Amino acid sequence: MTALLELREVHTSYGISRVLFGVSLEVARGECVCLLGRNGVGKTTTMRSIMGLTTPAEGTILWRGEDITGWPPHLVARAGIGFVPEDRRIFGELTTWENLDVAQRVAARRGPWTIEAVYDLFPKLRELADRPGGFLSGGEQQMLTIARTLMGNPELLLLDEPSEGLAPLVVDQLLERILLLKRQGLTILLAEQGVDFSLALADRVYVLEKGAVRFSGPAAALRDDAALRHELLAL
Ligand SMILES: Nc1ncnc2c1ncn2[C@@H]1O[C@H](COP(=O)(O)OP(=O)(O)O)[C@@H](O)[C@H]1O
Ligand SMILES: [Mg+2]
Repeated sequence: MTALLELREVHTSYGISRVLFGVSLEVARGECVCLLGRNGVGKTTTMRSIMGLTTPAEGTILWRGEDITGWPPHLVARAGIGFVPEDRRIFGELTTWENLDVAQRVAARRGPWTIEAVYDLFPKLRELADRPGGFLSGGEQQMLTIARTLMGNPELLLLDEPSEGLAPLVVDQLLERILLLKRQGLTILLAEQGVDFSLALADRVYVLEKGAVRFSGPAAALRDDAALRHELLAL
């Protein structure tokens, strides 16, 4: 069976500084896969490489078996990959509804996700429809960022550190919503530093270290083995 997404020996640099050293990974349809690793190991760069925001120097990115390496981001989005960046680039002067309306207008693909559908997933956003994005809390902004990306009807959602900087209660609420998306069949590639959040969601994990895959296996292997977790993540 062909993986939905496959990276083969991807090397990516920023200028002369090499960041990824031959990252290989696979995501099957319906899976939630987590890229785990400390700050600076290359999680975001892996996602940027997939999205075509930073073109790999070497290696191949396959989407449903087709080579999409070096495709521009809008074509990657149209092919069915949606990216939720860690810095939550919503429009601060536009209301929640306006942010979603913009996303709807530029949506990469048609599909089931409408403003009403994302309001059903995140009822809080419906209450905040008229509030400017800049006046939303961190958790609300994160929901809006995910909702906006869903408007493009992706088949695979790249979620870059969604829990970063959020209070524990908010993280739990977010986790529950992402679990719902997973149950609805959305394929997810998650980047996280937090073990609890990622292991609650992920079927499989890849632990990155210095731009390379140090460990890969079922999430349960890390969940059940404190010594392995400590060895890989010093936690
Ligand atoms: N735009 C950039 N230019 C140069 N170096 C960068 C850039 N973005 C990230 N880096 C470097 O690449 C490495 C990996 O970063 P990143 O992929 O953001 O890691 P992570 O998401 O795991 O924290 C880090 O050493 C970081 O300093
Ligand atoms: Mg990052």
